[in-house]
Amino acid sequence: MDKWSWMEEELERLGQESLFRRMTVFDSEQTRIVTAEGGKQHMFSSNSYLDMCSDPFVKEYACRMLEKYGAGTGGSRLTTGTAHLHVQLEKAVAAFKKREAALVFNTGYMANVGIISALAQKGDIIYSDELNHASIIDGCRLSGADVAVYRHSDMLDLERKIRENPGRRGIIVSDGVFSMDGDIADLPGLTDLADKYGLLSMIDEAHATGVIGETGRGTEEYYGMEGKTDVLMGTFSKAVGSEGGFVCGSSVLIRYLLNKARSFIFSTALSPASVAASIAGLSRIEEQPVRVKRLQDNVRYFCRALQKRGIRAKSGTAVIPVIIGDEKTAAEIMEELKSSGYYVSAIRYPTVARGSARLRISLMSSHTKEDLDGLADVLADCMKRRNLQTGNGGVKE
Ligand SMILES: Cc1ncc(COP(=O)(O)O)c(C=O)c1O
Repeated sequence: MDKWSWMEEELERLGQESLFRRMTVFDSEQTRIVTAEGGKQHMFSSNSYLDMCSDPFVKEYACRMLEKYGAGTGGSRLTTGTAHLHVQLEKAVAAFKKREAALVFNTGYMANVGIISALAQKGDIIYSDELNHASIIDGCRLSGADVAVYRHSDMLDLERKIRENPGRRGIIVSDGVFSMDGDIADLPGLTDLADKYGLLSMIDEAHATGVIGETGRGTEEYYGMEGKTDVLMGTFSKAVGSEGGFVCGSSVLIRYLLNKARSFIFSTALSPASVAASIAGLSRIEEQPVRVKRLQDNVRYFCRALQKRGIRAKSGTAVIPVIIGDEKTAAEIMEELKSSGYYVSAIRYPTVARGSARLRISLMSSHTKEDLDGLADVLADCMKRRNLQTGNGGVKE
């Protein structure tokens, strides 16, 4: 028997269902114009929402700290891997999120997996929004706790599920900004229920940090309810422009996770250059709130530009999904946009539900009105030719 044949068969099946994935290789930094596979492209799918990946100050500080502390950390955080820089970043992010303390993980994925599996065990219950990110889902699975999945942002369904499990220890967990839909969680509703039923509340601020709230502090700032969530998780890999994950909260929470979160304990500490880039990126966001404002203005302008061209689009965040439905059509439109010089990722199953494939457009603070109108024109043309979402969405010209 050929021991590889089952893999070939599975790959063949993925291809037939338009679900086969491949990587695009970039030859430049993540800025609004990138070089990909030999050609220039307007980038409309990067998570570097505030252009920190390519910020000269961020790069210069990372280089300086690379020189000082070296390329790697040589150990895990609890052995030899904690440099002064890690502590500095933890203080900075705790202050940014207005919390007592913070802990830095190597990635956002590792943060979610480590936090959730440390806070919930067999016998506990986790209430999880149906559209939560894969790293939350994997953390729930790893914990061994029971998982009650509630309908997306539906607080009535959440309360119903809590009432079905009276008196159990547990957590309610949700993306703050949903990564593939761009909508914002009902944090007031979620924290009220957590308090009412004695549960921990947790949100994932990956796509909220640097993006929503007047100064980019995220979902709590957006709702004017700083300090209300028990466990604030986030990443440095999106608007902050670097890499790494974090959790902010009370000092007891952070001391507990430092001792219990296995993805924190059993992995070599994040490299000095990445930690330094996060410190610099965070300080840039604090010093230059105008970047956040520019991004938010771009979101408003672009949603309107799409609506005027008959494309349904609504978002208050940097993520603007245009739902196509069929996987093959979404992949074809992505290729067509690419050949016109616009890079937009087509997102398909299993990242989103089958039949809800979409173009996940994400904006940067540096996009110009010409960039935004340019993509809106080309996209409207692609969609009109396929009879998708025509009509002007009710917007007056
Ligand atoms: C909501 C959400 N949480 C967590 C992650 C994981 O973060 P990271 O890419 O830093 O591992 C991502 C993105 O990839 C995300 O979108």
